[in-house]
Amino acid sequence: MVIFKNINDIKKYISLKKDEGCSVGFIPTMGALHAGHISLVQKSKQDNMLSVCSIFVNPTQFNDKKDLEKYPVSTEADIEMLLTAGCDVLFLPAVSEIYPDGEAHFKTYDFGYLDTVLEGAQRPGHFRGVGQVVARLLEIVEPASLYLGQKDYQQCMVLKKLIELMGLATKLIICPTMREADGLAMSSRNRRLTEPQRVIAGVIYQCLVSIQSKQQNGRFDIVKKECEDLLKAKGFVPEYVALADARDLTLLSDYKAGTPMVALIAAKIGEIRLIDNMLV
Ligand code: PAF
Repeated sequence: MVIFKNINDIKKYISLKKDEGCSVGFIPTMGALHAGHISLVQKSKQDNMLSVCSIFVNPTQFNDKKDLEKYPVSTEADIEMLLTAGCDVLFLPAVSEIYPDGEAHFKTYDFGYLDTVLEGAQRPGHFRGVGQVVARLLEIVEPASLYLGQKDYQQCMVLKKLIELMGLATKLIICPTMREADGLAMSSRNRRLTEPQRVIAGVIYQCLVSIQSKQQNGRFDIVKKECEDLLKAKGFVPEYVALADARDLTLLSDYKAGTPMVALIAAKIGEIRLIDNMLV
């Protein structure tokens, strides 16, 4: 695996590889890698001759600066995992490389409605920062395909819109959420959970399964209340338990036959905020 810290160097390398006929798959990450990230690398390797992963903890997407300070960093272990997975290129830039003129100077995009609901509403400015950094990374790597995990469902929709707004031909490949044995969605934030918090964290998955399984005979307002009560009983503070049209994230007050739906949950335990979703 070749590691680059500098934009000009990685651009030159990728350009040479493209001249040799390589198609490029790109996996953007903020590090603290887990099996979910590695599944994206594996999918990219199946589809492309060159797989490029980036590790960059992007300061502009943290609406809560304490969250940024505590974001887990494990670069050496990440490099080992990427080597084992057979990743070809790692881009490991410093903040000054990505934002040489300061964070405020880079172009941002307007995601409209998508930035006003759920994660957009709970984390003002978050998607603005995600769009800003991913636009920058896409301009550097210019991949044929971009690999993202379904766990961040709304982020996938935002980045689909970003690709459209940028007028790129990049294909977005959304890969299934990887889960622990109790259903907890794999996330870099899970490593900040204490042992007792970890033991109960699978309750989010149980709630999603319950929302999914009651679509034929249930009412969403009732299931939602049951989920909120269960989350609270376990010590979580639910931020939202929502049902939405899976195509555009229009919020639904009840199940809608014939409509592809997605159930989404965000909840906090102690200082840790977890999100998950499930197609219904
Ligand atoms: O999902 C993430 O890890 C980040 O939001 C991303 C896409 C790497 C942008 O910083």
